[in-house]
Amino acid sequence: MSDTVFPVPAEVAARAHIVDAQYQEMYRRSVEDPDGFWGEHGKRIDWIKPYTRVKNTSFDYHNVSIKWFEDGTLNVSANCVDRHLEKRGDKPAIIWEGDDPNEHKVITYNDLHREVNKFANVLHGQGVKKGDRVTIYMPMIPEAAYAMLACARIGAIHSVVFGGFSPDSLAQRIEDCKSECVITADEGLRGGRKVPLKSNVDKAAEKAPVKSVVVVRRTGGDIAMREGRDVWYHEEADRVSDHCRPVEMNAEDPLFILYTSGSTGKPKGVMHTSGGYLVYASMTHEYVFDYHEGEIYWCTADVGWVTGHSYIVYGPLANGATTLMFEGVPTYPGPGRFWEVCDKHDVNIFYTAPTAIRALMGAGDEHVTQTSRKSLRLLGSVGEPINPEAWTWYYNVVGDGRCPIVDTWWQTETGGILITPLPGATDLKPGSATRPFFGVQPAIVDSEGKFLEGASEGNLVITDSWPGQMRTVYGDHERFIQTYFATYKGQYFTGDGCRRDEDGYYWITGRVDDVINVSGHRMGTAEVESALVAHPKVSEAAVVGYPHDIKGQGIYAYVTLMEGQEPTDELKKELVRHVRNEIGPIASPDLIQFAPGLPKTRSGKIMRRILRKIAEDSFDSLGDTSTLADPTVVDDLIDNRQNRA
Ligand code: PRX
Repeated sequence: MSDTVFPVPAEVAARAHIVDAQYQEMYRRSVEDPDGFWGEHGKRIDWIKPYTRVKNTSFDYHNVSIKWFEDGTLNVSANCVDRHLEKRGDKPAIIWEGDDPNEHKVITYNDLHREVNKFANVLHGQGVKKGDRVTIYMPMIPEAAYAMLACARIGAIHSVVFGGFSPDSLAQRIEDCKSECVITADEGLRGGRKVPLKSNVDKAAEKAPVKSVVVVRRTGGDIAMREGRDVWYHEEADRVSDHCRPVEMNAEDPLFILYTSGSTGKPKGVMHTSGGYLVYASMTHEYVFDYHEGEIYWCTADVGWVTGHSYIVYGPLANGATTLMFEGVPTYPGPGRFWEVCDKHDVNIFYTAPTAIRALMGAGDEHVTQTSRKSLRLLGSVGEPINPEAWTWYYNVVGDGRCPIVDTWWQTETGGILITPLPGATDLKPGSATRPFFGVQPAIVDSEGKFLEGASEGNLVITDSWPGQMRTVYGDHERFIQTYFATYKGQYFTGDGCRRDEDGYYWITGRVDDVINVSGHRMGTAEVESALVAHPKVSEAAVVGYPHDIKGQGIYAYVTLMEGQEPTDELKKELVRHVRNEIGPIASPDLIQFAPGLPKTRSGKIMRRILRKIAEDSFDSLGDTSTLADPTVVDDLIDNRQNRA
């Protein structure tokens, strides 16, 4: 942890929307008078029928219910597109930068309007109606954003599935939300390599049949089209009009479902609704990034994650900003790519993940310093704790010591940023997400749920609702309550550990549940375990995270084989391939240890604490092992550990 403080530079404060005195005053009002505060700020978006009720929320364990602006009506796509036409029709809405540095495209708000309308009509043509779920499995091309906004336009609920997920993971998500239409592309392109998206959809549809598959042509690669189910987007788009009236939606009508991993069971469909989500995404985008009209803003996330939803598509477009969308990877064709793109498009605001920063830091400063980056004004970080070394490198080398860094803490469930500096208001401390955004009331509790005051460390809860909060787990409200409101009754439990320092700054320490964060991607250890035990040679598996220089956390798997199976290196490789096939490459175990036995209590519960310690190579402090059914297994685990310092 670092104690260095970086005060707000005078020139940053001078142009900022919010300086410290305003932050203090607005924050106070936002928690003392949420109805007044949000009633006012809700007007930042256009409503068809204005709301008269603002906040109607309960965290009561027996009756969790979250509604914001509940009698207002709006259309999210009209807010992100139509309302900008008059003033900003010819202004770039999306700058698309291809995987290949020779490919880019500028899409103005007028273009975006035409494309979204056409896409909406194509979906209508496929029989998609208000309330239907549409699965989007796309590469990072503008059509992914058009598809999302087209769903919003006609009131369909999109479920974007990250293009790196396997056919099985895709099938599970299609099935869970009973989606009958999938939008995909022939192939994706990342780092010069093709991703067989359509062929994955075909495999998924064998398990989870769908009525229609809309295929966008990206690479022109050879793919199979199934008669009666699959259509080419460009052929359908040629036939439809470029006008589609936006459907009037209630503020609490669902906008999207996004699957995310938890500590148990299969991924949960996190459900977000329309009004509160859009107010929150657009307001955080403007204030956290101190966005001003005309600036070029780039978030490097994929639209398959919540960061892509809120801070590539909905937040920036609701604000009439220019959002850059990047198809490729940080290291292709070389490790200078991010900074070359910043120079090429004069990027002012740049938002990425610590894992990318660490990887690029390792590639050497010259890839950064040979670019200009003079357009950059603000840097952002999201997805995992940023270690002070990476923060300092980002600040000094990438930002030349002149761009504040906003370390933004939030989650798929929160819809938008909850704890973050505001560039004109907050002095920075490397590694700290600093202070709560307006309306957000964090608290730290001990394991019994007792509130800790002042400087303290424990588990992070949020004590009251904010407009961007998820409303339910799709189709399973009880699971929503059990997951988030049962551990500390009456509080939203984040699953994160946290320290608050004497200045009231928050330092997120990482997950305290069985979720690990691998390169900023959230992964349930239970999911990787069930993929492993699905292999015929595996009898039992336990998965934990361990510190990894670039990924933040790596995946460490302890595997017990079926009687008579040989523990070979070949089998390790086979198991890695197997997990990739079952879930996707992001779930590949980094280290596998064959273990004849796992440490279990006498009641058969696996003692993960011990497994974590061994994986971290810090087994001097294993704690009490006397309650184990067979304490000798621990010696074998230590002797054969895979992560020796
Ligand atoms: O552990 C926290 C970590 O990422 C988790 C949420 O993951 P996900 O839902 O995939 O959303 C990621 C992008 C919003 C959190 O519970 N996390 C996210 N941002 C930070 C962070 N940890 C520390 N600092 C952050 N800035």
